[in-house]
Amino acid sequence: MKVITVRDYTELSATAGQMIADLLRSKPACALGLATGGTPLGTYQYLVERYRAGEISLQQVQTFNLDEYCELPRSHPQSYYQFMYDNLFRHVDIVPENIHLPCTDSADLQAQCDSYNALLHATPLDLQLLGIGSNGHIGFCEPGTPFDRETFHTRLTDKTRQDNQRFFDSLDEVPTTAITMGISNILQARAILLIASGEAKAECVAQMVKGPITEQVPASALQLHADVTVIVDEAAAALL
Ligand code: PGA
Repeated sequence: MKVITVRDYTELSATAGQMIADLLRSKPACALGLATGGTPLGTYQYLVERYRAGEISLQQVQTFNLDEYCELPRSHPQSYYQFMYDNLFRHVDIVPENIHLPCTDSADLQAQCDSYNALLHATPLDLQLLGIGSNGHIGFCEPGTPFDRETFHTRLTDKTRQDNQRFFDSLDEVPTTAITMGISNILQARAILLIASGEAKAECVAQMVKGPITEQVPASALQLHADVTVIVDEAAAALL
């Protein structure tokens, strides 16, 4: 694991954005795994700025998001589909047909998991962008998820729902389940870029980087991958 410590969130966003921009320039038709949450917002902003400056294009890129809430229609302002349009897709030249998120608007969620999983197998990811949950989750792979798990329908832990409550009016509105890539899908990406910011992430970052490899800390599975870059600001690096 290559760990890069930067001063603050602005520098973190620029460093992560630069890595993705470099990939877009060297391989314009790449497959990108994307993440939602508060942490990647600055990275997406950086990419939008590079696009507006004429430095990058996403016209040939295929994107695959890590996860999507169940119980929310795609049109809901807090669906990850909307998040991605609001913060990245609407502002760049990506082709809508090349955008992929798990589809949770269906009675047969297992069939949706299977079809998303088949899509991931058909299109190996060049780079997977990740945040990390304060409980060590990646995607919505919560503690206890077997490392060999592929795309599945999962129940969110109370901790994750509390962490995500800030995006909703009340805890009751936070969905209880989601479809997520499994840890095995994430580990199949050619390269992985994990970003973490702020003191609330210091403990889980330390466990991911130097703790035992254990299903109780899903992000510790990244120690098994040969090409992982972790970018953390000083606050998130405090316990390294
Ligand atoms: P955050 O979420 O970026 O909003 O902290 C990260 C995650 O839960 O993976």
